[in-house]
Amino acid sequence: MVTPEPAWAPAPLPANLPGAVAVAPGVHWIGAMDPTLRTFDIILRTANGTSYNAYLVRGEEGVAVVDTVKLEFAVEFFRRLESVADYAEIRVIVLNHLEPDHSGALPELMRRAPQARLYISTRATAMLKALLKPKATDRPLEYQTVGTGDEVSLGNRTLRFLHTPFLHWPDTQCTYLVEEGVLFSGDVFGCHYCDSRLFNDRVGDFRFSFDYYYAHIMRPFKAHVLAALKLIEPLRLNLIAPTHGPILRDRPRRYVTHYRELSTSSLAERIGNEELSLCIFYMSAYGSTARMAEAVQAGAEAEPGVRVSLYDLAGGETTPFVDLIEEADAIAFGSPTINGDAVKPVWDLLSSLAVVNLQGKLGAAFGSFGWSGEAVRMIEDRMRGLKMRVPVAGLRIKLIPTDEELDECRDFGHRLALALLGEGTERVIEMADL
Ligand code: FEO
Repeated sequence: MVTPEPAWAPAPLPANLPGAVAVAPGVHWIGAMDPTLRTFDIILRTANGTSYNAYLVRGEEGVAVVDTVKLEFAVEFFRRLESVADYAEIRVIVLNHLEPDHSGALPELMRRAPQARLYISTRATAMLKALLKPKATDRPLEYQTVGTGDEVSLGNRTLRFLHTPFLHWPDTQCTYLVEEGVLFSGDVFGCHYCDSRLFNDRVGDFRFSFDYYYAHIMRPFKAHVLAALKLIEPLRLNLIAPTHGPILRDRPRRYVTHYRELSTSSLAERIGNEELSLCIFYMSAYGSTARMAEAVQAGAEAEPGVRVSLYDLAGGETTPFVDLIEEADAIAFGSPTINGDAVKPVWDLLSSLAVVNLQGKLGAAFGSFGWSGEAVRMIEDRMRGLKMRVPVAGLRIKLIPTDEELDECRDFGHRLALALLGEGTERVIEMADL
């Protein structure tokens, strides 16, 4: 067992520190509250602060600690832990996710309970080494990787692991306490909502925080969410114990159902499975790019099996467009070039797409320009950066399109539709080619 230099340093103990909280038979919450946090991971707003939930499970043959807390809150965590167990009793440490808000106190915990065995997912190994940074002179790092169905027994209590990667890091997993029907879900089903009343039937209204958290943390990984739900839905669920926000003891299955709803596309039901969707977004300064967009639409619509939608970015909000793009099969952007760049509303939308998975969708760009026309290439580059395929070379037209040039636009749209249907002859530009 490695004993790294303790990065953890004692801090003044908060006054009136509440103790551990019993959440299920033999299970205590030993986490920490962070009520003043207003931004998490730089990008996430946290109007109610957050919590770092960690748990202790007591069995007849020892104690397990499931997840830890952010380093700054290690004092609270250890005090709560000490109120319900001795370090010598700890046989098992489970880290469902190694992001620092849950692994911050791990090195110190391993130092205090050197006899405990650490259980992590198969994908967490590299992260663990990066976290603990063992020196060459240290003893080899001891841990055990686990996957779906692997179990560790505490005598009368069994921890069973579920391999649930990319929720929202490659290393993430869930741990199920079989006898009590408790799911330690990691970030899944969590939210940034700090409320010392702790349980979902006692805290304030956290619906906004729950959906906001999903939208920013889980949404890019919907396919992985659905894969995880296949493992979670068959479980008997008395309680879901996430690493952030309220503990879900009142009708926990509602949150599982809600995750499925949030992760399931509804577009196929609306337009039919036999049709593919192309969304065209454009901005136009003097009407030229708008005319191009209409011609691209006409060309694409000429091909049966493609449903085309046209949107002027001057008349829309970004968020609903992100929703449309997430479910579309192909996206085309039209932008004039102003000062050597695509226009801001186009960038605003493109920069908002990091929260959705666009890998493999088709992309295309077009636009009118005055003298340089960089916008089309810049948009294409951004789409490739989003792992989209760009099968049809971008179309630029100088100033006002002629009838012949509008024919080019119709042909551009038609070729895009054919590529979408898998009937085109265009070379698909893959990321690997670039
Ligand atoms: Fe709460 Fe992904 O850490």
